[in-house]
Amino acid sequence: MSDSDFLLTGEREGVTWRTRRTRETTTLRRMVRETRLSVDNLIYPMFVVEGEGVRQEISSMPGQYQLSVDNLVKDCADLVALHIPAVILFGIPDQKDDTATGAYHEHGVIQEAVRALKAAYPDLCVITDVCLCEYMDHGHCGIVEDGKILNDPTLELLDRTAVSHVEAGADMVAPSDMMDGRVGSIRRALDQAGYHQAPVMAYSAKFASCFYGPFRVAAESAPSFGDRNSYQMDPANGREALREVDIDMEEGADIVMVKPALAYLDLIARVRDRVNVPVGAYNVSGEYAMTVAASRNGWLDPERAFMEVLIAIRRAGADMVLTYFAKDAARRLAGDLKTPLSWM
Ligand code: PBG
Repeated sequence: MSDSDFLLTGEREGVTWRTRRTRETTTLRRMVRETRLSVDNLIYPMFVVEGEGVRQEISSMPGQYQLSVDNLVKDCADLVALHIPAVILFGIPDQKDDTATGAYHEHGVIQEAVRALKAAYPDLCVITDVCLCEYMDHGHCGIVEDGKILNDPTLELLDRTAVSHVEAGADMVAPSDMMDGRVGSIRRALDQAGYHQAPVMAYSAKFASCFYGPFRVAAESAPSFGDRNSYQMDPANGREALREVDIDMEEGADIVMVKPALAYLDLIARVRDRVNVPVGAYNVSGEYAMTVAASRNGWLDPERAFMEVLIAIRRAGADMVLTYFAKDAARRLAGDLKTPLSWM
């Protein structure tokens, strides 16, 4: 019998349901809490550049940095100490061209970063973003011909990129390019190279979103012409997002992702109901930037804002949250309420 049946039948006449009863004390609230955020859920995105001694704060993402490999390794000591299980790496090469050579070069910025990180922290899960936009002089995620982004010829470069990352020691690859067929193509390429064990975390439902704006400043990857609407998804389309997920599952995705997170919580929930693989959600750069900006203006309580965002993404159904708030959240979860937030 449901609560409303009680009241309708009059069986419990005079009884008023008071949902506030279980909200009365901290202890009760702790007992009835439905969703938890754990450090185990967090994946921290980081930006790697060439050179040495580089630690350049990203103007559009206060508290986040472009790091050379030496400083990347240094900074990851904090993550490991905080028990953050994973990082996802984005590379920014010095040289860009029209075949994204830097993306799959044996000594590319990501390949070097992965080697150094795995040598220093064997237990840290190092995930690499597999995309070409940061390595292309035109900033698009695929090969361009006559102003069009070519799908199938791009797959071969993505395959090479993914294999080179795993060869360097990456634990997992995350294709974010949104070319059709890339999950299957990368899976086959990894298997052929003998890397049967390396999981693919697919950016399955990745929308053409303005919320990547601050990232494109960080990664120097804004397209020099046009936009990404011919490969990333229309924000209006929910059913199509499920179809993208279905296709990636068929192609062998081990983990599927929804991105961005905040404006797409409905899809996180629907995807969670639909698949039996872990679901990731990317709390993207624009979501970070707006929280930071409003907090810095005194319009939001910074301590509450980012934790509320993260628990909402978990409540929607995400098992893993890729978030620039990972370090701050991990400290709060470990009971450290004193270390100042990196971005205030
Ligand atoms: C690469 C890529 C992007 C992001 C992750 N991988 C940018 C884009 O698609 O333009 C965005 C991440 C963020 O905004 O935090 N294609």
